[in-house]
Amino acid sequence: MVLVLDFGSQYNRLIVRKVRECGVYCELIPHDTPVKEIERLAPKGLILSGGPASVYDKNAPHLSKKLLESGIPVLGICYGMQLLAHLLGGSVAPGHKREYGRCRLMVHEGDSLFRGLPDSVICWMSHGDIVHSPPSGFSTLAGTADVPVAAMGDSSRRIFGVQFHPEVTHTQYGKEILKNFLSTVCGCSMTWDAGRSHWKIVEELSKALARGKAICALSGGVDSTVAAGLVSLAMGDRLTCVFVDNGLLRLGEVEMVKDTFSRLFSSRFVAVDGSARFLKALSRVVDPEEKRKRIGREFIRVFEEEAGRLGRTDFLVQGTLYPDVIESRGTRTAAKIKTHHNVGGLPRKMKLTLVEPLRYLFKDEVRIMAKSLGLPDRLIQRQPFPGPGLAVRVLGEVTPERLDTLRQADLIVREEIEKIPYEDRPWQFFAVLLPVKSVGVMGDGRTYADIIGVRAVNSEDGMTCDWSRLSHSTLETISSRIVNEVPGVNRVVYDITSKPPATIEWE
Ligand code: XMP
Repeated sequence: MVLVLDFGSQYNRLIVRKVRECGVYCELIPHDTPVKEIERLAPKGLILSGGPASVYDKNAPHLSKKLLESGIPVLGICYGMQLLAHLLGGSVAPGHKREYGRCRLMVHEGDSLFRGLPDSVICWMSHGDIVHSPPSGFSTLAGTADVPVAAMGDSSRRIFGVQFHPEVTHTQYGKEILKNFLSTVCGCSMTWDAGRSHWKIVEELSKALARGKAICALSGGVDSTVAAGLVSLAMGDRLTCVFVDNGLLRLGEVEMVKDTFSRLFSSRFVAVDGSARFLKALSRVVDPEEKRKRIGREFIRVFEEEAGRLGRTDFLVQGTLYPDVIESRGTRTAAKIKTHHNVGGLPRKMKLTLVEPLRYLFKDEVRIMAKSLGLPDRLIQRQPFPGPGLAVRVLGEVTPERLDTLRQADLIVREEIEKIPYEDRPWQFFAVLLPVKSVGVMGDGRTYADIIGVRAVNSEDGMTCDWSRLSHSTLETISSRIVNEVPGVNRVVYDITSKPPATIEWE
């Protein structure tokens, strides 16, 4: 394992992913994790991430010098490199302006980080401060026209620093540079493979869950399915999967989920029809946050009732992913944008021990794992769907009639966009029903009817997104099919906003 110490860079998750893609298991930890704790984890190497601070700031995030004396190989990136220089006696020049962008890196020493690379490569630079002179024992490995010390290293202490970002795709050979650090410097064996790692997880779960019973809330998405799949390999029929139909799912979804999961988890699969009570709880509610809260509350109630029916239960399985874990740790001060409903409120109330087998994995790794578990493609390729379901896509009051309108329009959006080959398809696409009507003309008569909004976005992880440039002919087909086939709709609009400033869902 290699650890990335988080100094606040927006790229820190990307470093973790790139290291894993190189075949080395990697985790992100806070920069002030105690040295003893880091030594206990016995990493093969440490990467110090970049960050927005200057080493000269009064409250600049720091690193214990002891860590640099521990013999663990270190690679500092951007701020990480400046911190190394600062701590080890080099000098860091305060930058007068931040610079971002591509530049040409001239390699002076090609035997460590730059082994096998050309003498000149394009890299992505982002800097405020720069290393003026490296600490004694270090040599300058590469430089650019503006940044003479763009990479430095001390091979005997196995400590290296790069001012540029090897983790971003704009840096040519970035992955090779990381690979050189991981294999040549750290001696990692490069054997991590998300697809095969599920056996290790199952082995650990088998030990941890040797006794007792577990329950898992299945949403029909890939995360909870893989989590349940792994736990069921470890526990067999001591795991029960519960799917709650909250009446807020898309057309055909309830049948699909029931059909798939009753086959996957056979006798230990329970489907609960909670649609009436969810709709009742949402009656006359228009505020988005209130909708989310009520749905969350109702879900807990249904789940508690089911758990009660199943008798004594010890564990609750959840499909929490690594970004959620980092996010909940890292955004203590961030503003709340939306209450993301999942079953996180359950364990406290139900005294169940939480089991999160995917808490160290990224979404794409979960998809790889799903494939190696033999899950069907239609399940693996499912796009994200919010816990509160269509309630946050029917803007305004949620009624059976309005849900029905949205479901029909949403199916058309899905049918048309799914004609695009999977690799080129947007990351997420759906319809929303607006809370206003507009005037139209159909035949010879005036109409005053509903408006459907179409949303299609490209994203990596849902944190940011850009709107998809769907072809005009796809948009045209979607629009004309909706106004012709969905009663009560006379207008279709396409959402051309990125996130930020908008969010992906409309509520
Ligand atoms: P937003 O709307 O916040 O959505 O830009 C980002 C991604 O998260 C999904 N989403 C949710 N997922 N519970 C979930 O499990 C929720 O309450 C929820 N709200 C939004 C959304 O579909 C998008 O993929």
